[in-house]
Amino acid sequence: MSNCKLQTEWDDIDNEYQQLQETHKIYRQKLEELTSLQATCSGAISKQRKSLKDLRRSLSKSAQTCDEKELTLLTHIKTQIKEREHVFFDMEAYLPKKNGLYLSLVLGNVNVTLLSNQAKFAYKDEYEKFKLYMTIILMFGAITCLFFLNYRVTDEIFNFLLVWYYCTLTIRESILINNGSRIKGWWVSHHYVSTFLSGARGPMYQMFRSQFLAFSIYQSFVQFLQYYYQSGCLYRLRALGERNQLDLTVEGFQSWMWRGLTFLLPFLFFGHFWQLYNSVILFRLARHEGCKEWQVFMLALTFLVLFLGNFLTTLKVVRQKVQKKVEKGQKSD
Ligand code: COA
Repeated sequence: MSNCKLQTEWDDIDNEYQQLQETHKIYRQKLEELTSLQATCSGAISKQRKSLKDLRRSLSKSAQTCDEKELTLLTHIKTQIKEREHVFFDMEAYLPKKNGLYLSLVLGNVNVTLLSNQAKFAYKDEYEKFKLYMTIILMFGAITCLFFLNYRVTDEIFNFLLVWYYCTLTIRESILINNGSRIKGWWVSHHYVSTFLSGARGPMYQMFRSQFLAFSIYQSFVQFLQYYYQSGCLYRLRALGERNQLDLTVEGFQSWMWRGLTFLLPFLFFGHFWQLYNSVILFRLARHEGCKEWQVFMLALTFLVLFLGNFLTTLKVVRQKVQKKVEKGQKSD
């Protein structure tokens, strides 16, 4: 290659480099603007929250002495204040914030807010896929332990995998909540409880082993169905646009969701009653004369807590959805 050609090539690269530097400079400026806007928004939200809190207190005081007309006005303002809370929650999903205690302990104070809808969707999608893959692995694990390998070491590996899986879920779910997901608190707590359940094992475990493994297989099967329902919701809502308020308004999505839910619910309730059955069996084992360990009683109690939490929360979710449906029906009349 001639020197002249090399010089032209270098000049081209150098030009591109100059351009890159310019673009990066603009990017850094915008980033600073963005950080300052974020701080302004976060400050304004805190201020609004404080003012609304004070106002709510004054409203409650005035409500004791006002007439009927004024009371209607006060109720109207109170409803609007409640709606504002939802708006602030949505706004905060796009603003960096301090991590809660759990995330601070696990990750330290690193910012986990994803700034674009695309990134949020990708993270949630990955979470659902992670659950699916782990469900398949855990199902094979439980089948292997139940039918082929009855060794302490394989059981321990399976239990370790369960503990690791549930711990990981709690971290991912805390990040999702930070990003505006409306996962009910119980579903996250459910995974903390499950972590404990998977970790606590005593010598009496052998008597409960088959039932526990069979339940694990069934749970994986239900999680499989859950994956299709949950990722179906995710993709449909993504195709429709924004999450949250939309599920109240879009007909097609509503009917798909109800069909999915009515299919899923019998399997879910069956699983919940299986948890209750596990608890009953473990309570019986705890009263067994040969049982000296406290773990059995604790496991029985944990299964009971899981049953109550899962069953009652699922009923609450369904009730809320029915209520929304009725409200929507009334609005469109
Ligand atoms: N685990 C994790 N996330 C869940 C969840 C669960 N069990 N249930 C709901 N969510 C998430 C949804 O994906 C949604 O997230 P988003 O705000 O990021 O979009 C949010 O919570 C709100 O969902 P919601 O509208 O309340 O419920 P849904 O229609 O998505 O699901 C159920 C309703 C009942 C199907 C679902 O809660 C469920 O499967 N519960 C049963 C779990 C269970 O009992 N497991 C044990 C079986 S033995």
